[in-house]
Amino acid sequence: MRKILITGGAGFVGRRFCRRFLEAGDHVVCVDPVAPDTGGIDPASNGWPMFDPRDFSNFHFVKQDCRQWFKQHADSDFDYVLHLAAMVGGRAMIENKPLAVADDRAIDAEYWQWAERVHPKKTVCFSSSAAYPINFQKDGDYRLLTEDMIRFDGDLGMPDMTYGWAKLTCEYLARLAYEKHGLKSVCYRPFSGYGEDQDDSYPFPSICKRAMANVGNPVLTVWGTGDQMRDFIHIEDCVDGVLTTMDRIDDGDALNLSTGIYTSFKQFARIAAEECGYFPEVQGLSDKPAGVFARGGDTSKQAACGFQYRISFRDGIRGALTWLRERGGQGH
Ligand SMILES: NC(=O)c1ccc[n+]([C@@H]2O[C@H](COP(=O)([O-])OP(=O)(O)OC[C@H]3O[C@@H](n4cnc5c(N)ncnc54)[C@H](O)[C@@H]3O)[C@@H](O)[C@H]2O)c1
Repeated sequence: MRKILITGGAGFVGRRFCRRFLEAGDHVVCVDPVAPDTGGIDPASNGWPMFDPRDFSNFHFVKQDCRQWFKQHADSDFDYVLHLAAMVGGRAMIENKPLAVADDRAIDAEYWQWAERVHPKKTVCFSSSAAYPINFQKDGDYRLLTEDMIRFDGDLGMPDMTYGWAKLTCEYLARLAYEKHGLKSVCYRPFSGYGEDQDDSYPFPSICKRAMANVGNPVLTVWGTGDQMRDFIHIEDCVDGVLTTMDRIDDGDALNLSTGIYTSFKQFARIAAEECGYFPEVQGLSDKPAGVFARGGDTSKQAACGFQYRISFRDGIRGALTWLRERGGQGH
């Protein structure tokens, strides 16, 4: 039985990891205050949407800010720490609450100071594709993002808002932690992770629900112009990607979690409508936040590390629609 700490474990990504480790029989300590405006869900309310972690005797939930928890705990026997804790919401949060999101820098700084004291065997950090230079993501000038576009010994470029800055800093701290203190870690840069139980502030559940609610209508609307493109990767693929590769990198180096496929929001809405059995015209609502134009992640380094995504976006959409229908259109 391994001992696993998951900060931010009550969030969208964390819940999936909790399940995998719990089912593997590992002892899981999940520290999360269930912060407002995030995707966190308190297991005490009614379990979690996809499963009830309270069914597992190896689950230990601490409803607390991990910064407080770090001050009170010095366990030196964690096999893995998945450091996921972050103030992160959909695009609206990143654009409109940049100072709240800046809290991530404090969370990460305190994580690494704690790690220096207790030396967990391995840290798995969730950085983000938002750490990439926005210069490579512009309308008319974009390209698949490769891990080496962020070079701490050279060019960094301008990341996406405070969210991207915080992620970039966390990656830098991970490298320094290895160089100066021998702390082993790997940093992941997930692109647009999606799944059934994602918070409604993200495009994935909101577009799926809108497609369901508008069946038969001639028009379906999406955020921004609708032409902006993302690289959608199912959250179970992200989890598989991490579990497959997390022992391959120790020096804080980064790996994308991506499919290498661009899908526009209009294309996404069209697929969702098709899966609901109708063919509307998809229109953009240009007054809503849209973010960068095109963000997609190269997959060569993932392939070299032995991972390739499995779930096509259409299959992922179909699965979510089925799940939502079974719950009367409600996510969580
Ligand atoms: N979902 C994606 O596609 C995606 C993409 C890129 C990066 N990430 C990264 O993955 C991680 C998890 O994201 P998510 O999608 O699950 O978001 P989420 O909002 O669902 O989960 C974040 C969790 O962190 C918790 N949290 C916030 N402040 C905390 C603190 N001080 N101490 C402990 N917990 C705290 C929140 O309560 C929440 O449960 C984040 O670091 C995020 O930046 C996710």
